[in-house]
Amino acid sequence: MFKSVTYIERRKLLKKDVGSGLILFLGNEESPMNYPANTYHYRQDSSFLYFFGLDSPGLAAVIDVDAGKDVLFGDDIGIEDIIWMGNLPKMKERAFEVGVRHTAPRASFAATVRQALAAGRPVHYLPPYRADNALVLSDLLGIPVKELKSKASQGLIRAIVAQRIIKSKEEVREIESAVAASQAMYLAAMKLAKPGRYEYEISGAMEGIALSRGMHLAFPPIVTINGQTLHMHDHGNILVKGRLLVMDCGAESATSYASDITRTVPVGGRFNRRQKDVYEIVLAGQETAIKALKPGINFKDIHLQTARVMAAGLKDLGLMKGGTGEAVAAGAHALFFPHGLGHNLGLDVHDMEDYGENNVGYGEKVERSSQFGLAYLRMARELRPGHVMTIEPGLYFIPALFALWRKEKKHRDFIVYDAVEKFLDFGGARIEDDVLVTEKGRKVLGPPIPKTVVDVEKACRS
Ligand code: GLY
Ligand code: MN
Repeated sequence: MFKSVTYIERRKLLKKDVGSGLILFLGNEESPMNYPANTYHYRQDSSFLYFFGLDSPGLAAVIDVDAGKDVLFGDDIGIEDIIWMGNLPKMKERAFEVGVRHTAPRASFAATVRQALAAGRPVHYLPPYRADNALVLSDLLGIPVKELKSKASQGLIRAIVAQRIIKSKEEVREIESAVAASQAMYLAAMKLAKPGRYEYEISGAMEGIALSRGMHLAFPPIVTINGQTLHMHDHGNILVKGRLLVMDCGAESATSYASDITRTVPVGGRFNRRQKDVYEIVLAGQETAIKALKPGINFKDIHLQTARVMAAGLKDLGLMKGGTGEAVAAGAHALFFPHGLGHNLGLDVHDMEDYGENNVGYGEKVERSSQFGLAYLRMARELRPGHVMTIEPGLYFIPALFALWRKEKKHRDFIVYDAVEKFLDFGGARIEDDVLVTEKGRKVLGPPIPKTVVDVEKACRS
C-alpha cells in the first residue's frame, strides 16, 4: 500500500473531475472454485485498489462529491474469522491507513445508495465485470444486469481513465519491481528451454519464482511451442528442437501493479537460419517502436510504423512483395501480425480494460479501425508523459488463416503465398517490453532481459 496521501490526492482529483453526485466502488469478493470455501487466489478490484488501497474482500466505498466525504463500508471481523483466518485490524484503523475518516457497516452501503437515488442525486458507477457485483448493482440500482454496462457513468469512466493512464513515480517503481521479477523468471526459463522438457515445467518454474518473491502472476501465462496461437494457455507439449518457445508472462507487485514481458527462444538454445531471420525482423520492429515512443505521437502511428518495418523485412525474406506502405495500408501484413502493438499497463495487465477498450485507448480524435488486424489495436491515442505501454510486435504463421486468405486470393499483390507455405510449420515469435513515455522520449522499465539473438542464445546455454 502507498502512503495515505496518495489515496487522498487521487480521491480529491476525482471529486473535482466528476463534479457532483455519489460515486460507488464495489470491492471484489472471494471467488469460489468448486465450493464456496475453496476459492481462487483473491484479487481486489483495481479501481478499488487505486482509490481505497485496501486489499481484502467484504468492502465497498462511496465518494460523496457534494459533501466532500469518502466512506468505507466493511465489518470488523468476529471471533470465528479470527480463529480460522487470523486477525485483521479494525475497519477504523484500516480506513485511516488510506486517509478515510468515515466507516460504516457493509450492510449500510445499500441504504446510502438508495437514499441518494431517492433524493434524485446522480449515482455514478463503473461497468461490473464479475457476476456477483453485477447482481449487487442491478438490485441496488434497479437496472437489469444486461444494461449495466451501457448505463455505467461515462463521465466517471472518463475522469478515472484520465487519472489512471498517467503513472506516478511510485506506480512506475511498482511496475519496475514486477519487471525485476520477470527478469528472474525469464533467465530461469531460458535455461530450462531444452528438448525433452514439458512446457509446464517452464511455466511452473516461472510462476514459482513470482510466488517466491511474494508476488503472483498478473495473468495466465503463455508458454508454448505453438506461438502461432496468440493466447495459447495449454502447457502440455514436449519441447522439440526446431521449435521456438514463446513465453508471455507477467508478475504482479506487492501493490498489484503488473509487468507483461514476452521472450521467444529457440528450443535447445540456438536459432536456426529461418528462426533467426524471422526473429530479427520482430526485433527490428520492436526496437523501432520503442525508439518512436514520445509525447505527442499517436500510438496508432507507431503501430503502423512497426508494421511497415516488419513488412519490409518480410519482403526481404521473399514472403511479401510490392510497396511496403501500400501493403500495410491495405492490411496485408496482418496475415503475419494480426494483433495490436501494445496496450496500457498498470494495475491491470490490460490496464482499465474493464471500463471498455475504446474508453481507454481511443477518444474523440482517434477512431477504432474495422480493418482485420488493426481492429485489435487496444490503444491508438496520443501519448503523454507517464503512459506505460507494452511494446509487443510479433510474426506468426497461422495455417488456418493462411488457407483462408489463399483461398480468397486476399492481398495477392502483396503476399507470396508459395513462399509463405514453406513457413507453415514455423510457429510464431513475439518480443515484449514495458516502456514508460517520458518528457523527452521513453524508458524501458526494469532490468534488461536478454533479447538480441546473441544474448538469448547465451542465456539459454548458460
Ligand atoms: N500478455 C498478454 C496480452 O497482452 O494480451
Ligand atoms: Mn501484453
